[in-house]
Amino acid sequence: MIEHDVIIVGGGLAGTRAAVEIAKTDPRLSVAVIAKTHPIRSHSVAAQGGMAATLKNVDEADTWEAHAFDTVKGSDYLADQDAVEILTREAPDVVIDLEHMGVLFSRLPDGRIAQRAFGGHSHKRTCYAADKTGHAILHELVSNLRRYGVQIYDEWYVMRLILEEGQAKGLVMFRIRDAQIEVVRAKAVMFATGGYGRVYNTTSNDYASTGDGLAMTAAAGLPLEDMEFVQFHPTGLYPVGVLISEAVRGEGAYLMNSEGDRFMATYAPSRMELAPRDITSRAIVKEIRAGRGIHPDGSAGGAFVHLDVRHLGQEQIMSRIPFCWEEAHRLVGIDAVHQPIPVRPTVHYSMGGIPTNINGQVRSSPDGLVEGFFAAGETACVSVHGANRLGSNSLLECVVYGRRTGATIAQYVQDRKFPHVDEPRYITEAQQKVQALLDKPGQYRIDQIRQAFQDCMTEYCGVFRSESLMQEGLEKLKAIRQQAESIYLDDKGILWNTELTEALELQSLLLVGEVILASALNRRESRGAHSREDYVDRDDPNFLKHTLAYYSPAGVEIRYMPVTMTRFEPQERKY
Ligand code: FUM
Repeated sequence: MIEHDVIIVGGGLAGTRAAVEIAKTDPRLSVAVIAKTHPIRSHSVAAQGGMAATLKNVDEADTWEAHAFDTVKGSDYLADQDAVEILTREAPDVVIDLEHMGVLFSRLPDGRIAQRAFGGHSHKRTCYAADKTGHAILHELVSNLRRYGVQIYDEWYVMRLILEEGQAKGLVMFRIRDAQIEVVRAKAVMFATGGYGRVYNTTSNDYASTGDGLAMTAAAGLPLEDMEFVQFHPTGLYPVGVLISEAVRGEGAYLMNSEGDRFMATYAPSRMELAPRDITSRAIVKEIRAGRGIHPDGSAGGAFVHLDVRHLGQEQIMSRIPFCWEEAHRLVGIDAVHQPIPVRPTVHYSMGGIPTNINGQVRSSPDGLVEGFFAAGETACVSVHGANRLGSNSLLECVVYGRRTGATIAQYVQDRKFPHVDEPRYITEAQQKVQALLDKPGQYRIDQIRQAFQDCMTEYCGVFRSESLMQEGLEKLKAIRQQAESIYLDDKGILWNTELTEALELQSLLLVGEVILASALNRRESRGAHSREDYVDRDDPNFLKHTLAYYSPAGVEIRYMPVTMTRFEPQERKY
């Protein structure tokens, strides 16, 4: 059996930052990162616009308190304010720390780190590396993994969390190259497995964002928190859905409808295009529903609006947002220097996730913790984003809470013994599971079921929701789950059998989708990204609380947990 003092699942920003922290704190510890892609291909690499921190390089009046307030207001008051305080207080320090590791941030003329405007932030505080910030940071963190001797298992798929007697003891994984199955035991297991954008049919997320960590956690009987809050990024490139960064609006782009109006004046007059994402996404969908969307031939009534950067000029476009220009050019043939970019909302981020305390330790209930189990980054819900995340707070969360969770784990594993794990039992069960998938005599290809599922989630649990719509969605989802029992794999081999991975990912997607729908159905109010047409107002007396959803094959049980409030009383949220 393989053993490491600490195993971290996920090679993105949160996982790598935690690994570096543990290895730096105690070089004697054996630390491993397991990832289903190569770490530098983790979805963090696609992050574009930047990382918020009150460095005050551009705006001296900024404070961490202002950042905290913006974050809590942006969250529609659902964020835990103790966690937000840590996030915003530590932000400048983690940025400088990254710079010392070698991250090349964009600069002001005087050489200090540049900062730009971002949606919902009251000051220019987003640090960036052009529009490739995730790329710049992740490459340095992965280099640092090697520097500190962290072992990397890349292209291994983790199938199961081993959780016994309230303690995480390890996991079961298989090598995608040849389906070799291994059990790994550890004194601490950390999940940093990212989001689940592939639950939906249009997303900015990469193909690997299938919610595996969330599904494994839920399948082990642990709750998932606030899963109804799915972030739609306002400006997905139409029709492909990839991200056109909020940095584009931070640099001054306009959103225009078919009548040539900057329609955000109607929805958020004081912030215009830099309103928070939930409000901007709803505004775009409303414009499209009202017939003011645009068709590819320029006529009214189509399915997208325009993001116009032409007034910025070629020099600013090419120096600040070159990647967005390139995406539009390469993928839909638009030269943004001369033409507006077609955009519409695309699924981007999960505000909910595996519930943790402020040290990254996973919760089993409102006041219970799981021994040996930690989580950070998008897969976790600590909760700093509440019902709606502000742009550029997610890279920040990964680094602040990755570092903090790493520091906690480095202490936690001191003096702990390796747990006992029944390796033969777990190997046999995993082999049987793999063989059962290979042998399936079903009638559906995986992609047929996946497409039907993604369409179902998009139609029945999208930007706007209602009881009847979501009930219908749940019924459809049940039918799709039944059909998923009857898939078959064309490839019956074990060498680079990507269908096998897809079959396991499909199970993750279906589970996560069911939890999202059940959580959304039970929240009878509108808050942040959860917008109900049958309950249009926020309802603090009844729903200023976190959802905890416990999955079982028989259904999803919903409980609730209080929100931690420290400084900021809920107010009406206006921009
Ligand atoms: O629009 C963006 O560049 C995305 C940033 C974020 O999600 O924080």
